[in-house]
Formats: sequence, C-alpha cells, structure tokens
Amino acid sequence: MKNIVVLISGSGSNLQAIIDACQSGAINGTIRAVFSNVSDAYGLTRAQQAGIATEVAEPKGFADRTAYDIALADRIDHYQPDLIVLAGYMRILSPAFVNRYSGKLLNIHPSLLPKYPGLHTHSQALANGDQEHGTTVHFVTEELDGGPIILQAKIPLSASDTEADIIGRVQVEEHRIYPLVVSWFVNGRLAMREGKAWMDDRVLPAQGYT
Ligand code: GAR
Repeated sequence: MKNIVVLISGSGSNLQAIIDACQSGAINGTIRAVFSNVSDAYGLTRAQQAGIATEVAEPKGFADRTAYDIALADRIDHYQPDLIVLAGYMRILSPAFVNRYSGKLLNIHPSLLPKYPGLHTHSQALANGDQEHGTTVHFVTEELDGGPIILQAKIPLSASDTEADIIGRVQVEEHRIYPLVVSWFVNGRLAMREGKAWMDDRVLPAQGYT
C-alpha cells in the first residue's frame, strides 16, 4: 500500500474525492496525512472526519519561501510519502521542495494547460469567449503550472455561463480525473521519465476522458 500525503489550502473537495477512492479501493493507497497552510481550511475537517492525520503549517515566522518549504518537507517526510498530491494548494512551491519530490508530486489546475497558468483561470476563459474550458492533472516541476501534462478533462462553454457555473462543472470533472490519475501512479502505471509523463498501455483507453 503506497503512502500518500495531500496538501490543501481550502475546501478540499478534490481531497474528498481521493479519500472516497481510497476507501472504496479504487486507489490502492493510504492518505497518511493532510497538510494545510491555512488553519481553518475546511479540507482539514474532511480529513479528520475520515480519521486522517492533519497538520497545519502556517508560513509566518519563516525567513523566506525556501525556509518554509524545507520545514514543511521535513514534516511531510515523517509520513514516508510515495506520492504528494496538491489538491487546491495555493502556495507557489520553491525549487528546493519541487526537486526534493521530483516525479512524485502531482497538481490539479483548473484550466486546459498550457492555457491560463496561475490564478483567475475561469474568468479568463469567459472573458476571452473560449468555446471550451477544463482542468489538467500534471507533474509538478519548477515551472509554475508547466510540468508534464498527464490528463485533461474538458467542458463546453456557452455565452450565458457565469464563473460560478463553470467552477462547479470543472470541479465535477476534477473529482473524476484526479482519483483516476492517483490510482495509476500508485499502481506503477504512471511515472515522470526524462521530463515527460509516461503511462503504460493499460491506462491509455482512459484518455477517452479528454
Ligand atoms: C480546484 O478547482 C483546483 O483545480 C484549484 O483549486 C480548487 C480547489 O478546490 N487549484 C488551483 O487553482 C491551483 N493553482 P478544492 O479545495 O475543493 O479541492
């Protein structure tokens, strides 16, 4: 059974999808701990309700981003993670952190990368009159939202859509694809090799999600 550590900053609906998939056996892994940089993040409550250890790591008091990230990683390492999942974790990670966990660090980002890295993805898609929008699961590298793409899910946009509409529709897709990708990783069917996402042949039919 692989050890998973999840990092959050907010509601934790993606965390919940991964908790549910671990409990159902769809993910052959155990979430050993959930870390949040925000002390009142609702995702912490979700973790506690599932009997998962939680830790709050607030950034104040650290000299800089790297110092915070090294202290965070030292705490994470107590749980001997095979995989670290960023699930709505809203802090930029330093190279020291990213390189320490190279190849075992996943993120979900609410856009069809490489479109709209960073914040305010939904409002940008609407403002630009895009016909489609979506979400991307990728390996994390030093480039913000720029690591190798693993899986995307698309939603159609219409002129009457509001930001709230599309946040909800994107999250429905996120809750489908993130547990799926985590299951591939823990089953050894997905890895980062030579800077690219490698998947074995058995997962390719699931690319029909995109
Ligand atoms: C998700 O939609 C995720 O894609 C996004 O935050 C939301 C967290 O929701 N992540 C980012 O924007 C990262 N740059 P959740 O806390 O309910 O899972």
